[in-house]
Amino acid sequence: MKINTRVDKVLNYIQKGSTVADIGCDHGYVLIKGVTDDIIKSGIGVEVAKGPFNQAKINVHEYNMDDYINIRYGNGLDPVLINECDVCVIGGMGGRLITNILRDNKEKASNFKRLILQPMNSEFILRKYLLENNWVIVDEDILIEDRLYLYIIAEKGNMEVHDDFIYEIGPVLAKKNNSGRNKYIKQKIFKLEKILMNLKEVEVKETNKIKIIKQAIEKWRSYIGD
Ligand SMILES: C[S@@+](CC[C@H](N)C(=O)[O-])C[C@H]1O[C@@H](n2cnc3c(N)ncnc32)[C@H](O)[C@@H]1O
Repeated sequence: MKINTRVDKVLNYIQKGSTVADIGCDHGYVLIKGVTDDIIKSGIGVEVAKGPFNQAKINVHEYNMDDYINIRYGNGLDPVLINECDVCVIGGMGGRLITNILRDNKEKASNFKRLILQPMNSEFILRKYLLENNWVIVDEDILIEDRLYLYIIAEKGNMEVHDDFIYEIGPVLAKKNNSGRNKYIKQKIFKLEKILMNLKEVEVKETNKIKIIKQAIEKWRSYIGD
């Protein structure tokens, strides 16, 4: 089995005995390893692409998991019934797509006890959606591999937001001072500085856009005491 640290990272956030829906399950390894390790009781894997859908089915069969894991073809949460699973995993997609998957089946999504989300970008949009729709971000972490992977863990509840920048940095990462989090911040600053440089090359005057980017850089810097 091609298990990577990303699979284990997701499994770390799943309570033993949970039923899990993995949306965009690809190869199906989160569910297969989770059942093998006795963490996941049973799972549903959803795939919208025929290739990964067929491969996940083959993998589940090869690992004798047909009694525990059901691979379904379809879009987002459409193929999952309400209350079928406790936990929902959606990883390896853009934050906007993850948000749309949750929004398109809002009632179903609100019945999960825990969401384990791993957006590849646009996390601002995802966090804003979660915090405006009765979810609390209970944990966030950065995994450093070939690139930085962000994990957002949400449970039902309410969280007040007084500053929109919290959607950028994340309420948990804002308080977590570890090397992954600091690398994440440095990467954000690097990207903004690159945009700033490109803007300065084409524009002579300090425009409002430049001012906004400079302010954002200062905000990010304040979290790492730079
Ligand atoms: C880059 S892979 C990530 C796979 C795995 N979740 C991971 O984190 O490594 C994204 C997978 O999500 C699937 N996918 C994208 N949009 C989807 C949707 N709306 N519903 C179900 N699956 C989707 C893709 O077909 C692809 O297999």
